[in-house]
Amino acid sequence: MKTRTALLLGASGLVGGHCLRLLLEDEAYGKVRTLVRRPLSVEHPRLEQQVIDFDQLDGAAALITGDDVFCCLGTTMKQAGSRAAFRRVDFTYPHEIAKRALNNGAEQFLIITSLGAHPRSRFYYSRVKGDIEQAIRALDYRSVQIFRPSLLLGDRHPSRRGEKLGMSLGRACSFLMTGPMRKYRPIAAETVASAMLAIAREQPKGVNIFPSHRIQAIHDGTPSAPAPPAGPPGLI
Ligand SMILES: NC(=O)c1ccc[n+]([C@@H]2O[C@H](COP(=O)([O-])OP(=O)(O)OC[C@H]3O[C@@H](n4cnc5c(N)ncnc54)[C@H](OP(=O)(O)O)[C@@H]3O)[C@@H](O)[C@H]2O)c1
Repeated sequence: MKTRTALLLGASGLVGGHCLRLLLEDEAYGKVRTLVRRPLSVEHPRLEQQVIDFDQLDGAAALITGDDVFCCLGTTMKQAGSRAAFRRVDFTYPHEIAKRALNNGAEQFLIITSLGAHPRSRFYYSRVKGDIEQAIRALDYRSVQIFRPSLLLGDRHPSRRGEKLGMSLGRACSFLMTGPMRKYRPIAAETVASAMLAIAREQPKGVNIFPSHRIQAIHDGTPSAPAPPAGPPGLI
């Protein structure tokens, strides 16, 4: 069987960590290459860790290769310290890496954005997420898979105070979120990772957008309605 190479961005993060574990368990991937800024304490015969400077991607261009690119990069405004620094992590790095991976032969790009992502959102966070969706869609990938989760659940070290409160509230109110409100239900980071791998295996062509409730359904093995048509770039 011909195996694939996964290129994973954000392997040290909450969703990225689950992606890494699941990719290493998946025999379909002969190699899992991570691009990280600090080495991870994980060793595996199929894991290739590349420590790079994300601000000097030209120097790392030859390492930005793989069949399926899993992008779990991200930061918060608080962590980044400014809007510009936030945008660099959530827009510039994924975009620059996506372009280089495509040049190097990648076929499928899978990215986590967020519920509410839209280039014209009044919230800066959602606008940047919408911008990166639009920029990735404009590239000539055979397949683009966009995952828009609601609040992520999972053990984060160190934990984020506001997020912890959101998780508790979200969990408590989850049962109220039915029908069109389902996409607002908090979702486990592990669920997002497992849905990403399931879709990567299927490789649906074109641009596909997965709102939070569909991510959950893919993980549960009960994909409900087909994904809404993604429409041309700019009309997300
Ligand atoms: N948290 C939520 O509730 C939520 C909801 C919806 C969508 N999302 C989105 O889902 C995605 C994954 O979220 P997550 O919670 O799993 O993220 P996370 O745990 O914060 O992990 C983020 C990853 O990005 C890397 N990163 C951050 N700043 C970097 C920088 N300056 N240079 C290089 N790498 C950098 C981190 O590496 P280091 O370990 O080296 O810092 C880490 O691997 C993000 O895009 C996030 O915006 C999150």
